[in-house]
Parts: sequence; C-alpha cells; structure tokens
Amino acid sequence: EQIEKGGYEHFMLKEIFEQPKSIHDTLRGRLLVNEGIIKMAGIWDHLERINQAQKITIIACGTSWHAGLIGEYLIEEFARIPVEVEYASEFRYRNPIITDKDIVIAISQSGETADTMAAIKMAKEKGAFIYGICNVVDSSIARITDAGSYTHAGPEIGVASTKAFTSQLTILSLIALKLGKHNGNLSNQEFMRLITELDALPKKVEEVLESTHEITKEIAKHFVDAQNFLYLGRGYNFPAALEGALKLKEISYIHAEGYPAAEMKHGPIALIDENMPIVIIAPRQGHYDKIVSNVQEIKARKGKIIAVVNSGDTQVASMADYVIEFPETSECFSPILASVPLQLLAYYVAVYRGANVDQPRNLAKSVTVE
Ligand code: AGP
Repeated sequence: EQIEKGGYEHFMLKEIFEQPKSIHDTLRGRLLVNEGIIKMAGIWDHLERINQAQKITIIACGTSWHAGLIGEYLIEEFARIPVEVEYASEFRYRNPIITDKDIVIAISQSGETADTMAAIKMAKEKGAFIYGICNVVDSSIARITDAGSYTHAGPEIGVASTKAFTSQLTILSLIALKLGKHNGNLSNQEFMRLITELDALPKKVEEVLESTHEITKEIAKHFVDAQNFLYLGRGYNFPAALEGALKLKEISYIHAEGYPAAEMKHGPIALIDENMPIVIIAPRQGHYDKIVSNVQEIKARKGKIIAVVNSGDTQVASMADYVIEFPETSECFSPILASVPLQLLAYYVAVYRGANVDQPRNLAKSVTVE
C-alpha cells in the first residue's frame, strides 16, 4: 500500500496532486487546439440527437451531482439547451417527465452507484437517450448507457472524490463547448478562446498546487476545533462551494454548509459571529462586485473569512483573515482551479483532527445499496 501511495501519506493527497495529470488525461486526444477541434468519439455519432433534445437531465449523487450542477451552467451557457440536474435517488421515485426527445446524462465516478443505476433504467424505459460519464472503465453504468465518455482520471482510492470531480468538470466543459460549436451558439472566435483556456488548465492546476499547498496547511491549523463552516460562492462557484463543504464534512466530521453567497441574507447570516469560519470563493470574473458586498456583510458580523481569490486580488483579500490565491481563467473553468485548495484545506483539517482520511467513518467508495 505504501508503494501505491507513491510517497504520500494518504491516497487522497496523492490524488489531489495527480490532478494536473488526470485533467491532462481527460483532455488527451479530445482537445486538439491547433486544429481548433474537440474530438469525442462518444458524442460524435449522437450530436444531432443531443442538439435537438427538448431538455437534458443530469442525474448523479454526491460529488458527481455537484459536477452536474456545473454541467448545467456550462451546457446552458454555451449550447443553450435547457438542463435540469437531479439527485438520482429523488428522480427514480418521482415519475419525472421524460420522453424519447430527452437526453439524460448520468455522471458517476464508480459507475456502480445503485441510485444512479436505477434512475438510468427508469429513464431508459421512458425512451430517453442516456449518455454516461464514468471513471471506471467497463463499470455497470458505462455498460448500460447508450453512449458516453470516460473521464480517464485513473483509479480513485480515497473515499472523498477529488481528481474524479475535476475530470468530470473537464469532460462537461468539452461536451458543452462541442455542442455549442456544432449548433452555432458559440462563435469560432469564442470557441478558440475557450479551448485555449481549457488546454492551459493542467499547467494552472500545477501552479495552484504549488502555490496553495503550504498556505492551506497553515490555515487548516487554525480551524481544527471549528464546529461549523460556511462555504459561499456565486454562479459557477456556487456548486464549487457545495463541493468544498462536502469534502470537509465527509473527512473531518465538521458540519459544513455550502450556499449561494446571495442567499446568505435569507437565513445563514444569522449564524455568523466571530466563531464562524466562512470560505468565500471570489474570482475576479463572475459577480465580483456582488461578492464584495457579501464579504462586507460577513466582516461587519466578525465572521472569520477565508478568501479564495485570483492572484493579486486586493478588495476581497483586504477584508479577509486568510487569503488563498489562484490564477485567472474563464469563469466557467474557475471551479476546477478553486476546488484544489478547498480539497487541500479539507484534507489538512481532517489530518490535524486525526481522522481516517482515506476511509471516513460510515462511508463507502461506491454506494451499491439503496
Ligand atoms: C464524494 O466525495 C463522495 N464520497 C460521494 O458523494 C460520491 O461522489 C457519491 O457517492 C457518488 O459516487 P459515484 O460518482 O461513484 O456515483
């Protein structure tokens, strides 16, 4: 096992550090920037059908569901096809409106999640075309779907999903850009700009790992005894906030909630005092001014602010107690970069609390029972 961990203390840390490679592997052979194309065997034969879909429903659980939420933003922005995202466990029991004009995208790292599997079977019976996004090759979900793409993130052993998540976001970005280019919603110029950004992500993730590792380790020390955490983000980074909170709760057992930053005033603001740590994801693109006023509200209530901002940020950073910086990219790709320090933060808080990071209590890597 020590050899498999490759010198890292835990699989989770190893997998966090593998992300430049796993994202690169997800893109490999698919993103051909010089030729200006995205080549995806899984989607090519079905482009017409997908582009003519009345709606796309994304079904998944846990972290994969968070990836699905970002997928909704991506597909609606670039391909202009309506998308709904559902927990597979809810979808399967509520007789949803699905027809043979619908596309269902099922996302699952393991490809074995019982709820996702059952939801796929139901959608299939209703005539929908099912597209799978799985990491484990030849898994049950990969076999039952009509078409699909593997994330190629490599084996993920840590129960807390890390590299599979960023690879799911990468695949969803490819799909959204491919559909948008094909159906004419995305201009050639914009497509080229975005694929160039996408291509730069493995390198940027490497930079994020280098620049945030020590600082997240340091910040984590201050929150070992925290009892609650709030994670806030807007737009593409709202699901990133949900995912950051899930990471922390599953491995450190600290209660954490993710919220859209603007929803704070509708309830969670009542929780804020000097004992409440708040992680706020605030890249320059994407409602930055709005986030600044959210941060002012938190500051006025003495919340402890951990700001995850772009390099060189001054406004949010000047109000924060702790600052984590990451390089700029398009807003739609920012969750891929912002998630990395959130994974590291959760990891180190859990390690300092003496938790079993790779095998958290009560959790299994793949949930094959209902
Ligand atoms: C993630 O850290 C979790 N352990 C969990 O939420 C997981 O994402 C969920 O069970 C779905 O698994 P799947 O992607 O293998 O279907």
